[in-house]
Amino acid sequence: MNQDIIVQLAYLLSAVLFVVGLKRLQSPATARGGNAMAAVAMLVAIIATVVDTEILTWTWILVGVAIGSLVGGVAARRVEMTDMPQLVGVFNGFGGGASALVAIAEFVANPAVGASTAGVSIMLGSLIGAVTFTGSFVAFGKLQGLITGNPITFPGQNAVNLVVFVGLLILAATALGVGSLSTPPLTLFTAFLVLALALGVLVVIPIGGADMPVVISLLNSYSGLAASAAGFVIGNMVLIISGALVGAAGLILTMLMCKGMNRSLTNVMFGGFGGEIAGVDRSQIGQRPVRRADAEAAAAELGYVNSVVVVPGYGLAVAQAQHELRKVGDLLSERGVDVKYAIHPVAGRMPGHMNVLLAEADVSYDRLFDLDEINDDFGNIDAVLVVGANDVVNPSAREPGSVIAGMPILDVDRARRVIVMKRSLSPGFAGIDNDLFYLDHTLMFFGDAKESMGDLVREIRELA
Ligand code: TAP
Repeated sequence: MNQDIIVQLAYLLSAVLFVVGLKRLQSPATARGGNAMAAVAMLVAIIATVVDTEILTWTWILVGVAIGSLVGGVAARRVEMTDMPQLVGVFNGFGGGASALVAIAEFVANPAVGASTAGVSIMLGSLIGAVTFTGSFVAFGKLQGLITGNPITFPGQNAVNLVVFVGLLILAATALGVGSLSTPPLTLFTAFLVLALALGVLVVIPIGGADMPVVISLLNSYSGLAASAAGFVIGNMVLIISGALVGAAGLILTMLMCKGMNRSLTNVMFGGFGGEIAGVDRSQIGQRPVRRADAEAAAAELGYVNSVVVVPGYGLAVAQAQHELRKVGDLLSERGVDVKYAIHPVAGRMPGHMNVLLAEADVSYDRLFDLDEINDDFGNIDAVLVVGANDVVNPSAREPGSVIAGMPILDVDRARRVIVMKRSLSPGFAGIDNDLFYLDHTLMFFGDAKESMGDLVREIRELA
């Protein structure tokens, strides 16, 4: 078999592995395998490409694999679960930057490419790649606290963005020889790249830091589109396919996140949410009286009933209390309590955040229930334990006029008893008060989730 056929077969194999790997990400039970499958697919595609183009020897390929594996392995092991959106943001930025470099290299090699398929692909690849590159690093900076998380706005911002975009279209067309300009194509292309990099910054700065996970997911989609365009530029089928898969998957994820918050993508991109919210008087938050419980009282409430539903939220991730939570679940189950976990689609700060945390603590997948599966049951549940969750259980979402009106929530207030474990009456991501805390049948169990959960473990063991 000649080398060309082997390379094409390798590309076909990796494309199939990408699709099957992506499919397996659908369920927590198969997700790890799916991830590994997609990583193998990428390795196969990279090796096939470097063998095909004969630009590197096997020694260099192995050195590259070793360095890449080391950097990736260390980064993945070190990053906290709560910092995962930043890591994904950086990956997207590099992905977009790499695709832009492919397109740039092709244009520099042949500035007279003209308004052909290759020429248009070069402009698309470099535009989307450059926007993804700078946009992702601004998103990273906001999440990492390197730049302010508040929306950065100025008068006429959208008009400026529009002018920049139209300027980009004109520069791209003239660089491809449409119309007759005396300026050399490479000069026009350089101006085009500078403007594209600026556009990435301009579109992300007005978005509040709290919305960055949605932006990162959208930029993930862009990085896929940039890769796909780069695939068209160099005629590489596997890059086109994998880029299209990333582009589509990123867009679906973005839409799911928007749906989980009942917000449109336009609202996320242009709404300036996540900073100070107009009409919300923050001085009134947490001023009403609540009923308190300590670990002993909470243990008694949970240990002598038939059914308990645990609702994990962002605070569980911050406190890293998942292992203690698993122990609480195990102890209650041993006492004959039916324990379930209710997972809201946007609990935490990224999709699947809670599933990953609970999987890490070996909570059985069949105990995990999505919002749609469990919401109708809360009326029959004896006790709900809310751990570091806030907005996703805020009943004000059912009231028109609330900041989070229409956001799907877990109806935990309908259970017979609610215990909320958090440090204070501070608001969550949406920055609004939560009526759940003040209900007659709600008990507030104040403290850091990890410490409180440890105390709860001890008290449940003491129960008769
Ligand atoms: P939040 O509403 O943000 O509430 C988390 C709560 O955890 C806070 O009120 C905080 O209260 C508590 N907390 C923090 N550290 C804690 C600790 N060490 N121990 C105990 N509690 C602690 O979280 P949620 O209910 O999970 O909702 C997620 C929010 O993020 C939603 O508004 C959602 O729209 C948004 N969002 C999610 C995503 C995705 S995809 N997940 C993407 C973008 C936005 P104290 O300070 O009083 O402890």
